[in-house]
Amino acid sequence: MTQLEQIFKAIKEVAIRISEEIKYADLGYTAHENATGDTQLKLDVLSDEIITAKFKELECVKALVSEEKDDALNLNENSKYIIAYDPLDGSSLVDVNFAVGSIFGIYENELNPQNLVAAVYSIYGPRLELVINDKKGSLPSLYRLAKDGEFKFVKELKLNEKGKLNATGATQKGWSEKHIKFIRELFLQGHRLRYSGAMVSDLHQILLKGGGLFSYPATSDAPNGKLRVLFEVLPFAFIYENAGGATSSGVNDSLFDITISKTHQTTPCFFGSKFEINLMHKFYE
Ligand code: AHG
Ligand code: MN
Ligand code: MN
Repeated sequence: MTQLEQIFKAIKEVAIRISEEIKYADLGYTAHENATGDTQLKLDVLSDEIITAKFKELECVKALVSEEKDDALNLNENSKYIIAYDPLDGSSLVDVNFAVGSIFGIYENELNPQNLVAAVYSIYGPRLELVINDKKGSLPSLYRLAKDGEFKFVKELKLNEKGKLNATGATQKGWSEKHIKFIRELFLQGHRLRYSGAMVSDLHQILLKGGGLFSYPATSDAPNGKLRVLFEVLPFAFIYENAGGATSSGVNDSLFDITISKTHQTTPCFFGSKFEINLMHKFYE
């Protein structure tokens, strides 16, 4: 087994554990905030602990960076892979029984956008699914957990040139004029609103339904957006670009053009089919 395959195997195991915990665990809050100021749920912390314990077993992991840890956790100094992850995305929606997920970005040696070599996310919905993108330039693959406890390959995922869905987040009273105009134009062109509030679920839906747009823009109260570069934005940017789509922060040609200055850095972000991202550039420039 290659080192990357060992990491994917570990992710499959933790996904099964976390999906079990989500079904039965305590939904309450802890008394702590994470580095981005969200009050941690007991489930956020538990998911983080499950993932940390599993990756500690792997010699190929150099360090872990988590949404729920203030600082990086160094493991094996001479190893290659740094894993940046969101242990439970959309965790505040577990109480209303919506689908949530875990996101993993696998970086080689350094936490730079160019060093992201693979991305994986799991989605805990009515079924347990996993999307693995193991190489730049290759299509992401969808896997689904079968009754025998094994993940079975379902299909490769590819975005159409243009989609039909529009998922757009943040408080609308803080949107910029150009964002309001852009989103209105998409709806006028016939796009339908699909937004749950868990980026894993919203991006998964768009990816599986052939395309559209997911955006979390800059707002007057959050000029750098909300979503976190290393463990939310870049893994999905990798998957969307490899699936034939495009990404942007609103000011660049790809989310991979971002410069990283801190672990919990956030950015405005756009992920979609090529048509929607091109249209965004017309309104944003
Ligand atoms: P997390 O649960 O890991 O903190 O992430 C929640 C994120 C993301 O999943 C979602 O797209 C976004 O927050 C929703 O924010 P708004 O409610 O502001 O739209
Ligand atoms: Mn998240
Ligand atoms: Mn989270």
